[in-house]
Amino acid sequence: MSRGCFIVIEGIDGSGKSEQFQRLTKRLKKRGYKLVTTREPTKVYPVGRLIEKVLREEEQVSEEALALLFAADRADHTERKIKPALEEGAVVVSDRYVHSSLAYQSRGMGKALDLDWIKKINRYALEPDAVIFLDISPEVGQTRLSNGQVRIKDHSYFENISQQERIRTVYLEVLNLNDSPLGSEKIVVSQADGSRVYRVDGALPVDEVEKVVWRRVTGLLKALKIEPGERDSKAESLTRFIEE
Ligand code: TYD
Repeated sequence: MSRGCFIVIEGIDGSGKSEQFQRLTKRLKKRGYKLVTTREPTKVYPVGRLIEKVLREEEQVSEEALALLFAADRADHTERKIKPALEEGAVVVSDRYVHSSLAYQSRGMGKALDLDWIKKINRYALEPDAVIFLDISPEVGQTRLSNGQVRIKDHSYFENISQQERIRTVYLEVLNLNDSPLGSEKIVVSQADGSRVYRVDGALPVDEVEKVVWRRVTGLLKALKIEPGERDSKAESLTRFIEE
């Protein structure tokens, strides 16, 4: 069974994550990699649709319930989409995954929740081959959002700077990036399974960030001996599925 490569892009609100996700996946597609792009919260599975309503403040749930909803959405997403794609040997790129839950649900909500409990309810999440963390100060992130440079923010659940500051602190902790100051590049390779964390300076001009991310990802794919190839019909249909 061939196994693909699972890459996740993470960052606080306004880090430019979604823009870089678009740019990276466009380049991978152009190169002919067998590609599946995806995101969390999902928009296609039922729990993801409920989460969207909560984030838009159309529905209310407790903080504990929201943490469970994100974990449930992830369980569906992992089983129904990510694992099958990896088994097909695809490069799977996700805009957010389990580290978002660790960071946002433990310290980013009205009530702080126990990080170990959040890890436990996400126990069946996969370990990505690489996490690209676009690091930016919450002030710069919020300015970008309000200027509409990245996008106009369409929900207000996690909106203020001190919340984003707390979220960033947990990201740095769980990604083992605590000793890397803002503005520096850093790579952490896990001893246990070789999975990588790339810290990229999200405050750089977007074209620069794109280049750094591309360099990292092509290096990773090379190390994993994943070559771009002729797309077979199955990969085409997988790519179409996620774009719908
Ligand atoms: P979304 O509108 O998709 O925006 P973004 O571009 O910021 O990803 O909103 C997703 C929000 O959900 C975002 O503020 C982060 C949050 N989130 C969590 O709190 N926990 C999670 O596990 C995930 C995946 C996202």
